[in-house]
Amino acid sequence: MKLAGQAAIVAGGASGLGAAAARHLESLGMNVGVIDLDPVEGLSFARADISDFGQVNAAVIALSERHGAPRLVLNTTGTGGSGLCTGPDAMVDSEVFRRVLLVNTLGSFNLVKAAGEVMAQAEPDEDGGRGVIVNTSSIVAMEGQIGTAPYAAAKGGVNAMTLPLAREFARHGIRIVTIAPGIFETPMFSNARGPMVDWLREQVVYPDRPGKAVEFAEMVAHIGCNAMLNGTVIRLDGAFRVPPGRYDWWER
Ligand SMILES: NC(=O)c1ccc[n+]([C@@H]2O[C@H](COP(=O)([O-])OP(=O)(O)OC[C@H]3O[C@@H](n4cnc5c(N)ncnc54)[C@H](O)[C@@H]3O)[C@@H](O)[C@H]2O)c1
Repeated sequence: MKLAGQAAIVAGGASGLGAAAARHLESLGMNVGVIDLDPVEGLSFARADISDFGQVNAAVIALSERHGAPRLVLNTTGTGGSGLCTGPDAMVDSEVFRRVLLVNTLGSFNLVKAAGEVMAQAEPDEDGGRGVIVNTSSIVAMEGQIGTAPYAAAKGGVNAMTLPLAREFARHGIRIVTIAPGIFETPMFSNARGPMVDWLREQVVYPDRPGKAVEFAEMVAHIGCNAMLNGTVIRLDGAFRVPPGRYDWWER
């Protein structure tokens, strides 16, 4: 798929990986619209809470009226919610679990559903394709350390819906791909403090550093161009594997 001149939507594009992807896609000639809670300077914007389908649907329709039906839709919204579930140091209860699922998992579904409806009505390209929707999970979905049960479950849900959605959307010529990042230098990661964060940084194999947001953005652009990438979860992690972690990091 050619990216230049096409419309793109980036949910979560006000910060971190999404902001880098939005700028990169724009530099490749795409007309980028951002959905987020916060506006982003210099880019077309529609506000929506990703966990609310009505808001997401309205934002997708507004941006599509402005720029045309999107050919590339990226979701990088997300939220954490970590801690122990039991004992005197328990921090995770069912409300925390619910919030993490609502933003990460239901939010991903909301954007796929809203964008899929608009994309399915668009004219197909010369290959019969109508574009691609890219979700963002995490390698924590595959090897979550102690204290990450809600986040791991939420991102595991994003991974698990990738293939069934790709199978369903094939009849519209729409691909569905998920990127599972390792650790990337963004506000979400860089502002986190404590022994677990130091330990996470030490686990990187090669390159011996967290990923750069632009490296994530380059992967998004490649997925946009490469029609054979469909129905799959791509680890982008520099061979990073997360060991179990420790209980005492969560003691108060
Ligand atoms: N940074 C990492 O190391 C890393 C690693 C693995 C996975 N991830 C995942 O990558 C994605 C992007 O992470 P990031 O580091 O760029 O985070 P970030 O916090 O910098 O950006 C997230 C963006 O999502 C928006 N957002 C959050 N909740 C929202 C909601 N309810 N509705 C609409 N927008 C909302 C925020 O306003 C923000 O602009 C997330 O899904 C995260 O879980 C990040």
